[in-house]
Amino acid sequence: MSEITVAASRPYKIHLGSGLFPELGGRLSALRRGCGVVIVSGPKVWRLYGESVERALISSGFSVLHFLHCDGEDAKTIGVYEDLMNFLCDHRIERSDLLLALGGGVTGDLCGFAAATYLRGVDYVQLPTTLLAMVDSSVGGKTALNLPGGKNQLGAFYQPLAVFADTDTLSTLPREQLLSGLGEVVKYALLKDVALFAALEQGQNPCHSAIIERCVELKKGIVQRDELDRGERQLLNLGHSFGHAVEKCSDYSIPHGIAVAIGMAMIARGANRQGLFSAGDLSRLLRLLERLGLPTDCEYDRAALLAAVEADKKRSGENITLILPRSIGHCERRSVPFAALEDYLN
Ligand SMILES: NC(=O)c1ccc[n+]([C@@H]2O[C@H](COP(=O)([O-])OP(=O)(O)OC[C@H]3O[C@@H](n4cnc5c(N)ncnc54)[C@H](O)[C@@H]3O)[C@@H](O)[C@H]2O)c1
Ligand SMILES: [Zn+2]
Repeated sequence: MSEITVAASRPYKIHLGSGLFPELGGRLSALRRGCGVVIVSGPKVWRLYGESVERALISSGFSVLHFLHCDGEDAKTIGVYEDLMNFLCDHRIERSDLLLALGGGVTGDLCGFAAATYLRGVDYVQLPTTLLAMVDSSVGGKTALNLPGGKNQLGAFYQPLAVFADTDTLSTLPREQLLSGLGEVVKYALLKDVALFAALEQGQNPCHSAIIERCVELKKGIVQRDELDRGERQLLNLGHSFGHAVEKCSDYSIPHGIAVAIGMAMIARGANRQGLFSAGDLSRLLRLLERLGLPTDCEYDRAALLAAVEADKKRSGENITLILPRSIGHCERRSVPFAALEDYLN
């Protein structure tokens, strides 16, 4: 088991390893004793892990309730959020009580936003059960809901009290969701870590704690330097401008991290055409993605993708901030005129 401290505006520990959930009661008692706990989860994850988490908490003296949301992005809506607020209010949940997000990024984003706003803020703990949530969404305190006009348009920066990532839960993750997490793992490697990239090339199991831990360390560093996403944290959007466009064109049938893999391949090809990223590095990236089973292209045409990028929230005025790979392990932010975007998407 490893422990990683995130020195954000409010510092907290990320506990990562096998067999964490059965010990959760004791570990949580070290942070907060005998309070009320509301577990927020989705139906699938609850069926798999709800009972063991609930049992572990009750045996350590917590009184436990649970709120189940629907599966998928539909859970990140104001309607579900309102139901959750009313549930907390009806059960007289107080500021000293705790919310627990048991699930993937959807659960974490919904529960985190609820925690940020209910009674102007109650503590919450992340219990990520997808690879994507372990390496990305449970770290860094971004919480969000979707609006009809766009994904993650409503949200708050609100750091959790702690994160407990039990890697045993990855054994039940469907292949598509595993691939989605892998897209983000490759992103970290291309962005910041040539050694991680090489480890993946050599066939290291990406669900191995050491790989997850490395990704968490990389994200932690970025969050500590730029918690509020004003500069360096934007690097984490590598592959996301085109990735979001692919997600949108697929009507969200392509999972986030898989779309990010496609977006990364697209922007890497674009950077190569612009003379910014070598042919050797480009072929290493494409080979790695393919070896892992990730797609490097999509069926949507250029006009549709450009229209989708145009609507993306990262666009400011006539410019768009692109994250461009320069070599494996090194990327840069560049603001380019929207009109020049097609040069990157041939
Ligand atoms: N807050 C952030 O910083 C941040 C960062 C990246 C992504 N996100 C958000 O995260 C969301 C995507 O998260 P996700 O990829 O985890 O998807 P998700 O939460 O929808 O989970 C994917 C699917 O896997 C199932 N599942 C979860 N854990 C399982 C397990 N252990 N075994 C079997 N099935 C399991 C879920 O029920 C769901 O059907 C998006 O909404 C995205 O916007 C947030
Ligand atoms: Zn992402």
